Formats: sequence, C-alpha cells, structure tokens
Amino acid sequence: MKLTEEEKQIAVETSRKVSELFDPGKGNLIPILQRVQGELGYVPPEAMEVVAGYLDLPPVEVYGVVTFYNQFRTTPPGKHQVKVCMGTACHVKGGHIILDSWERRLGIKVGETTEDREYSLERVACVGCCTLAPVTLYDEEVIPKITPTKVDGLLFSHQLADKQQKEGNAGEK
Ligand code: FES
Repeated sequence: MKLTEEEKQIAVETSRKVSELFDPGKGNLIPILQRVQGELGYVPPEAMEVVAGYLDLPPVEVYGVVTFYNQFRTTPPGKHQVKVCMGTACHVKGGHIILDSWERRLGIKVGETTEDREYSLERVACVGCCTLAPVTLYDEEVIPKITPTKVDGLLFSHQLADKQQKEGNAGEK
C-alpha cells in the first residue's frame, strides 16, 4: 500500500520528535517504536529510517524488530479492523483456517491494509472468550464460532451496510 507524500512527511516529523524524547541508546529502540506507533497508528519505513538514524543502527535492524513483533504494524489501519484470535483455544478450533479465509477474501496478508483502506487484518492473542472459539473481532464486535462461510457472509453484509450508508449520506446532501 502506498503512502501519500503528506503521510510520509508526517511520519518523518513525528518519528523525529518522538526519538528526541529518548536518549539515543539502542535499548530505547522498542520504546521509541511503541511511541511512534502510538502517535501514528503504525510504523512505516520512513519512520524506521529516522529511528535508525537517531540510534545509529542499520535500518535493516529496525525493520527486523518491527516485523518480528506482532504489536507493530507497518501500514495505516483500515477503516474496519479485523482481528483474528490465534490464542490456544481458537488455534485448536481452526483459527489458522479462519485467518487464511480472511486473507483470501480481503486479498491481503496479516498485518496489511487493503488498497482502498477499508480493511486491515491482524492476528491477536486470546481475547478472553475462549468458549466461543474460534473468534474474530470485527471492529469492536466479537464474532463467535466463526467459519469460512461466516467470513464471506459477514463481509458481504458489512459491505452492503457501508454502501447503503454512503448512498444515504449522498442522498442527504
Ligand atoms: S483463545 Fe481465542 S478467545 Fe481465547
């Protein structure tokens, strides 16, 4: 997914300001990245380069850390956030099949956002309702005992609702 020039500029400025709040020691890499993500909602390559420069680290090392930890995302979150639970109970009940369904249906990989920025996809640890496994969070809504067919139906009904809402808003203008 491509960032606009404005987004890149904001990422550079924000990560520069955030970095300067910390001492330039390697031990501050993760706290800085967490703060950048807190400010921007994601850590794009432009921000990684700034942080790498500030800490005098090779950019590839920063990239390695960002992509290693699930807590970091490298693209802006979508309008709708799909979070697939991959805790033990959900994993046992086929969480990976559900994740695969979402990936195929949305045409993105976990950690990515669709080109139109409507959806982003994440995997999360146990969300605390294991008896309903496997579980997906669609925005804040818990979708219990989800199946690949339910993924299709859910997406279809939400896309329809979004379309109707947009048409309704256009009609009001
Ligand atoms: S493991 Fe998914 S809700 Fe607990």
